[in-house]
This record gives sequence, C-alpha cells and structure tokens, in this order.
Amino acid sequence: MFNEFIVNNISSSIFVTDTDLKILYANPTAEHFFRLSVRRLKELSFDQLFKYNTLDIARVTLAIEQNQSFTDAEVSTVTIDDQHGKFEVSVSPIYHEAKTYVLIELRAIDQIQRINQESFVQSQLHASRDLIRGLAHEIKNPLGGIRGAAQILDRMVSDDDLKECTQMIMEQSDRLRNLVDRLLGPNKLPQRMNTNIHRILEQVRQVLEMEADTNIEVYRDYDPSIPDFEMDAEQLHQVFLNITRNAMQAMQGQGKISLITRIISGHMIHGQHYKLVAVIKIIDTGPGIPDEIRDTLFYPMVTSKAEGSGLGLSIAQTLIQQHHGRIDCESWPGHTEFTVYLPIE
Ligand SMILES: Nc1ncnc2c1ncn2[C@@H]1O[C@H](COP(=O)(O)OP(=O)(O)OP(=O)(O)O)[C@@H](O)[C@H]1O
Ligand SMILES: [Mg+2]
Repeated sequence: MFNEFIVNNISSSIFVTDTDLKILYANPTAEHFFRLSVRRLKELSFDQLFKYNTLDIARVTLAIEQNQSFTDAEVSTVTIDDQHGKFEVSVSPIYHEAKTYVLIELRAIDQIQRINQESFVQSQLHASRDLIRGLAHEIKNPLGGIRGAAQILDRMVSDDDLKECTQMIMEQSDRLRNLVDRLLGPNKLPQRMNTNIHRILEQVRQVLEMEADTNIEVYRDYDPSIPDFEMDAEQLHQVFLNITRNAMQAMQGQGKISLITRIISGHMIHGQHYKLVAVIKIIDTGPGIPDEIRDTLFYPMVTSKAEGSGLGLSIAQTLIQQHHGRIDCESWPGHTEFTVYLPIE
C-alpha cells in the first residue's frame, strides 16, 4: 500500500515494459502527461507514444541485451498529440520472477537544469570560438605577407603564364582572407539606436521574397505592442537574414516560414532577469536540423551544405549575445523553430 502510494505521487513518468517495450504499467504522472489512461497505454509500445523523439532506440535495445541501465540527459520529444517536451530518460532492465522487464523513467528537465546545461554549452562554445579565433589570427598575418609578395612579383614579371600564377596566388589569398575575417567574427561593437523590430523583420522578408521561390509562403504574426528599443539594426538584420535564409534553403522551394513576435515580462536570459523581453520566432516546415549537427549547431564551421561555411548561426549567436539576448532552437521533422530573446532595456 505504502509503496503504491509513493509511486503514485512521484513527479516523473514511470513505465514498465517488456523487452519489446510494450507497456505493462504506467504511473499516474505518465497517464496525466500523455493524456491517456493506463488501459489505453497498455495497448501501446513505448515508442508509439511519440511522433518524434531523440532517444537512441538502438542504445535502449543494447542496454536491455547487456542488462545495463543507461541515462540520456536530454531527450526531446513530441507526443502523438503534439505536446513538446524535454526529458532526462533512464532505462533500466529489471529482473522479476525469472523474467526481464524494462523500467523507463522520464523526468521533465526543469528550469534550473536547463540553465545549467545552457551554461555548459555556452562555455564549450566559448572555448571552440576562442580556438578558431586564435587560429584565424595566426593565419591572417602570414597570409598578408604571401599576398604582398605575390603582388610585388606580379609587377616584376611580364610573362603571361607567370602573371597567371601570381594572379592566382592573390585571388586565393583574398578568398582565404575573406574566410579568416568571417571566422574572426564581427569586429565592431553594436551601434545602438531606437528601432522598431518589425521594420527589420519586414526588410528581411522583402529580401527573402526577392530570393525565394513562389511556393514558399511567408506568414506574419506581429505583436504591435512591442515598443521601439535600442538595437543595432544592421546586425539584427544580419541575424534574421541568416536564420530565415537557412530556413529557405532547408525547405528546398516548398513550405512555409512563419515570423512571429511577442513581448513577455519577467524573463531570465543568461542568469539575468529582465522586466521586458521581445521574443522573435522564425519557424519553418522543412525537414529539421540533421541529427548529427544538433548538439553543435551554433559552433562555427558546422554545416551540412556542400557550399556552406557553417558560420551563419555562429555569427548570429555572437551578435545576439552582444545584444544580451539568447537564441534557442527546437527542431523535429517538419518543424524547425528558432527563438530569439532580446531584452528591452
Ligand atoms: N531551418 C533549418 N532547417 C534545417 N537545418 C538547418 C536550419 N537552419 C540551420 N540548419 C542546419 O545548420 C547548419 C548550420 O547553419 P549555418 O547558417 O551556421 O551554416 P550554413 O548555412 O551551412 O553556412 P553559411 O550560413 O555560412 O552559408 C546548416 O548547414 C544546416 O544543416
Ligand atoms: Mg546559413
């Protein structure tokens, strides 16, 4: 009785399944979260609860086979009734009366954990960015020398073949220099002026519509109560253009982009509390962020495109941080959502 009382009051969702993950038991929290009765839950297998989840099922199977438990600290899920959630998931094989069962526990990742993870990701990101910046710096100086020398040579030779070589060295050095400059990131501080965020979004939309295929619908839902506030319009233009252009490219000529703005009060960004925050969401209906780059999405030089430099989002993040804001991304097949939080100071 007492055991049952405890299990019924636990705040995480608990399932017991057989080794094929068919549900045999679910606690009330699970019923409540999935909005399904135990009876209905027992007709399903665990993976049928989700439209989408990032839990590695091969890993689960392996854990069951090897009789070892494992925990995934961050699993994104979308339930069959479209609720989106983030969980820490533990899977433990248990042995009872000569049979193996699987105990699955889903703990919702709360605010504090989310903030901890965020700061961990932040520090990793800083480290990798510093590394790349350092490297870029080291490349830049000798590169200047190479280009200068090629230029001198170019003036000295008159033979066409040789001139072609010196031209080639100069062109390629310029290309590299361009890349190195982008790697070094924005080199000026924001020039802040009172601006309307929707004006920037509208400019971005116009650029997009010029570039875009006609089959892409741009949907707008702006919150007119967002006041003008101090920002560097040019930098934010670049941020939103990078994000929306990625969305366009991902959708490959078919789909919908939504630009949504809201104002929220009392919100934490990087450990700081702000009274008013503008929230800008850019949502597309493309295939979603490829799994292999999900965790490193904002790192420089992470790309899935043959021609991509992988700098768009890294630059966007640097610029948003200069505005004391934050970018989040949530994505599953058919839905990719970038959210930019900008404090209205
Ligand atoms: N809306 C999206 N849908 C699907 N994948 C996306 C989306 N936005 C970004 N990505 C993925 O993230 C990667 C990194 O994006 P990022 O803008 O940083 O670089 P890039 O677009 O590849 O190159 P660059 O922007 O420098 O030309 C992309 O290559 C793509 O795989
Ligand atoms: Mg890009």
